[in-house]
Formats: sequence, structure tokens, C-alpha cells
Amino acid sequence: MATRNTLIAGIDPLPNKPVQKEPVLEVEYASSPRQAQELRRIGPYEILGRPLGTGGMASVYKVLDPKGEVYAAKVLSFDYAKDRKKRERFISEYEVLEQLDAHQIVKVHELIENEDLVCIIMDFVEGKTLKHWIKRFAPFPEVVIFHILGEISRGLLECHSRGFCHRDLKPENIIITSKGEVKILDFGIVRDMDMNRTLPGTVLGTLDYMSPEQINPQGKQVDFRADLYSLGVISWEMLTRRLPIIFGNSESIVEIYEKKRNPKLKKGSSKSPLIEGMVEALMSPDPEDRPVSVEEILTLINDYMPIRSIQRQYQGWLTNIQREIHEEMVRKTQMRRTLEGDAIYIPEPSNWAARARWVMAFLIVQAGGMGLLYHSSPTAKSLIDGFMNRTEKTFELSIKSPAK
Ligand SMILES: Nc1ncnc2c1ncn2[C@@H]1O[C@H](COP(=O)(O)OP(=O)(O)O)[C@@H](O)[C@H]1O
Ligand SMILES: [Mg+2]
Repeated sequence: MATRNTLIAGIDPLPNKPVQKEPVLEVEYASSPRQAQELRRIGPYEILGRPLGTGGMASVYKVLDPKGEVYAAKVLSFDYAKDRKKRERFISEYEVLEQLDAHQIVKVHELIENEDLVCIIMDFVEGKTLKHWIKRFAPFPEVVIFHILGEISRGLLECHSRGFCHRDLKPENIIITSKGEVKILDFGIVRDMDMNRTLPGTVLGTLDYMSPEQINPQGKQVDFRADLYSLGVISWEMLTRRLPIIFGNSESIVEIYEKKRNPKLKKGSSKSPLIEGMVEALMSPDPEDRPVSVEEILTLINDYMPIRSIQRQYQGWLTNIQREIHEEMVRKTQMRRTLEGDAIYIPEPSNWAARARWVMAFLIVQAGGMGLLYHSSPTAKSLIDGFMNRTEKTFELSIKSPAK
């Protein structure tokens, strides 16, 4: 979907002189997700439902293999599949993921490729993105931030030690499952740190989470420390629910770069000076000033609290997200059973307007009944008259009493 800051393509390197203000974010989007949706089958895999996600270049579907196993299929947009360079870059995501083996990184199974279609089959990760959980529950407790940060760092350790830099770490590319597992996805613009796979003068990534050196490719070499910067932004978001730097829609690269170089973090706004300090170190404009590796982050977390203790507290917090996932599963199951015809009742979500309508209907029926009784039974008539009289008297008394 074409959103601001999603994909920046074809930006010239930072010029020496300030450039004229002009829209910075040129976004290339193919019109193919609809086409992809029409395609109900990918090789032997059956597509289940609507896309789980649709980004600039690809759509991701939940699919079923002939044995009934569920997977996720990331399908390159048809228009892009015809472009040799884009096809190669997409395939490199599979090639990189094939080399990585960590519990915190999604596992790939197969690459399906023909003239019109390129598709990566990978483990289906049942859960929701960290972005979703931030919107629902941030600010997170300190210990939860440390746990999530620790898990992402463990995944990155594998990535960096194999010589790759993720370059697009952001909460939308991280899923937290109902068991609390943290999985990193979307290695679409990963870079081999020895080889520059990105075209000169091209910036790829997500602006809010992107390190200053990624914005200025002519400057320092982009290496694993770009991911540390993104980790800083993610931590700040988990801590405060906000992004540390807000960019306007039409800021020039020079302005964006300047803001990145001089972030004005509103410190003291959270209850965790420890994480604030860590964010500041991770978001240092100069990569040399950031921690030397993800291992350093892991050591810091370990010094803060023993892993077992962090895990215990994290499990407690998880009940929040487990409840939400469970409720959603129950709703979906009821809906499916109803569609299949073996269930007849779906509890309606609580609705005050509907309840008020019921109360009104009840009162009207009561009033009607009373009227009928009044006219048809003399006993009821005298009882009701007596009661009304008493109420009138009570009214009279209560009105008169203050004047006494
Ligand atoms: N293996 C997976 N299991 C479950 N959901 C996934 C999986 N891979 C991707 N998704 C969903 O699809 C979205 C887009 O996938 P992603 O790989 O980030 O593609 P893009 O390059 O288009 O951003 C993710 O944010 C996530 O919600
Ligand atoms: Mg993504």
C-alpha cells in the first residue's frame, strides 16, 4: 500500500549544496496485489483468504500445502517479476534467509519461480506485528522492552555474524506470537556487508527507522550498525509509544539528514532512564559512537537482570496479548462455523444502542399491559387509581414542604 515513508527509491546521494524543497519520497508501486488475489493457487499451495500484508513489491498470503500444512507465501508483484533486477533482489531475500538459522528469524522452505511468478514459501508465523502491539499496549514496561530487544538482538547476532545487515528493521517487520516468540521478517533489502548490492544513489528502507548513514550513501559505509540505529528507534517507540523524530511530508533530504544528525529526544518523559540512555547510544548519529555490536546490548540486558527473571515477568505481561489473540480466534471460529452452517448463534458484541432499544421495547410493552389491565379489570383500576393518588399526594407534600 502506498504509504509515506514506506519505500524510498531512486534518491540521489546527498548533494554538497542544499537542494530546492521538493517531494522527497518517490514511491514505485505495482498495481498487482489485486491480480495476485485473483490467483488462488501458487504451484501446489492453495491461497487461504486475503493477503496478510501487501507492501511495495510483494503480497504475503497464508497458504496450505497438499499435506495440510500451513505456510506463508510472499509473492513478488507480477509487474516486478518481469523486471530482472527486482526479481534478483527478491530472490536474494530467499537466498539470505536460507543461510540464517536462528529461532528469532523466520525460516524459508522453498522458492517457486517461473516466468510470471516468484514466490518465497516460509513458515507461517501466527501472531501480530510489534507495530500492532505497540499501538495496543505501549508504553511497555521496562522489562518487556528488554526482553523484546534481547530477542531481536539474538536474531541480529546470527544475521550480522553471517555478514548481512538487515537495513529495514521496524516494528512492522517483527511479529510477536501468542507464545511470546519474537520473529524477524522481511529481509527484502538485506545487504551483504562485503558487497554493495544496492545501486549507487539509491536509498532503500523506511525513513523513520533509517540511520543517517543510509540517507547519505556517499558518507560512511553502511554496515551492521545501521541496524543498531533502528533498534534504538524501535526501543524508543516501545518506551514512549511515539517515534523519536517526526518528519514532515515534504522535507528535503538535507533537512531529514540534519534532523537525524541532531535528534532532540524528549528525555525524562518515561520511567526508564536506563532505556533512554540505551536509545541515545543506539541512535548516535555517528556509527562509531554506537555500541560495538549486538553482543554489547545483550551483555547490558544481562547485567540489568538475569534472563530467567526477565522471562518470568515477560510471561506475565504476555497474558495481555494472549487474551487478544484468543478472543480473535474464538470470533473467527464462530464466524467460520456459521458460514459452514453448523452453528446458529454468534454472541453480538456489547452495544449500548441495541440495549437501549430493548429497554424501550420492554417499557412500551409494560405500559400497554397496564393500560389493558386498567380498562378490563375494576380491581386493577381501583388499585392503579389509589396508587396514582398516593403519588400525587407525595408530590404535593414534597413540593410544599420547603415552604413550611
Ligand atoms: N511468515 C509470515 N507469517 C505471517 N505473516 C507474515 C509472514 N511474512 C509476512 N507476514 C505479514 O505480511 C506483512 C508483509 O510482509 P513483509 O515480508 O514485511 O513484506 P514487505 O516487503 O511487503 O513489507 C508483514 O508485516 C506481516 O504482517
Ligand atoms: Mg515489511
